[in-house]
Amino acid sequence: MGDTPVITLNNGVTIPQIGFGVFQIPEAQTAAAVTTALEAGYRSIDTAAIYHNESGVGEALKSAGVPRDDLFITTKVWNTDQGYDETLRAFDASTARLGVDRLDLYLIHWPTPKRGKYLDTWRALEKLLADGRVRAIGVSNFLPEHLRAVADLGGTVPAVNQIEVHPALQQRDAQAANAELGVITEAWSPLAQAGVLGDPAVLAIATDHDRTPAQVVLRWHVQQGRIVIPKSVTPSRIAENLRIFDFELSADELAAIDALESDGRTGPHPDHFN
Ligand SMILES: NC(=O)c1ccc[n+]([C@@H]2O[C@H](COP(=O)([O-])OP(=O)(O)OC[C@H]3O[C@@H](n4cnc5c(N)ncnc54)[C@H](OP(=O)(O)O)[C@@H]3O)[C@@H](O)[C@H]2O)c1
Repeated sequence: MGDTPVITLNNGVTIPQIGFGVFQIPEAQTAAAVTTALEAGYRSIDTAAIYHNESGVGEALKSAGVPRDDLFITTKVWNTDQGYDETLRAFDASTARLGVDRLDLYLIHWPTPKRGKYLDTWRALEKLLADGRVRAIGVSNFLPEHLRAVADLGGTVPAVNQIEVHPALQQRDAQAANAELGVITEAWSPLAQAGVLGDPAVLAIATDHDRTPAQVVLRWHVQQGRIVIPKSVTPSRIAENLRIFDFELSADELAAIDALESDGRTGPHPDHFN
């Protein structure tokens, strides 16, 4: 998996600590962006059925010529496909669009508690895992009560909970619940969609280290053990975001970024999103 550090999931599978996110990249631009990311050295790609760009990811994977075993591909089952049979069908459709016969990580995109289907959906993910169609299964946007309900089934504990985490929204309770259950926290919108990059505290730390604000924020994440999946369509930023494993923030610098918590959620609240 190249020079990127890996994190070992609760079933022994390893995942690169940084991946390339493709949310909001239009289908027509996705293959080029993913190709740039693979050339820069990313080996983990995070997409979702609802991003409508899995085919573009697949196109880039096919032309890149990187051995399949060196890649880590994540996609997610969308809310309207929740349910046991529906999820199995959604998995087949996603893998077909991606052009792969197995996935590395499949996630339930949102708990959508009002639909009341995430436990049945989880059982379908367990079936895909048992059948060898996916190497690890997990969830996204699960609050501690949703995660505990899955763990209480007594089967597979999710390997990952992909949640919104950045300096302005740190979700410490959710991170603690993940850690307690042995679930790795993967931070989505790790840069708060660039919203925290102009913060004076981040800028000062970046100047002191001769780094960019994005590198400082990503370093703050990885130094605390989280997986990050920043998105960019800009080649220089795609490369820049990967160069975060050759410097270190001090305890005081980590604390200065921790202090930026402001309940700054950019996405919907998991209890209300359907
Ligand atoms: N599970 C979920 O519900 C969920 C929800 C949201 C996102 N995600 C995942 O998380 C990934 C990342 O989240 P995100 O795309 O919302 O936000 P993000 O990665 O926090 O931020 C992306 C934005 O930051 C800019 N940017 C990236 N690197 C930069 C740099 N070095 N300097 C300055 N600006 C930079 C990008 O601009 P340019 O592209 O113009 O360069 C883009 O506008 C997504 O792609 C997706 O895979 C998951």
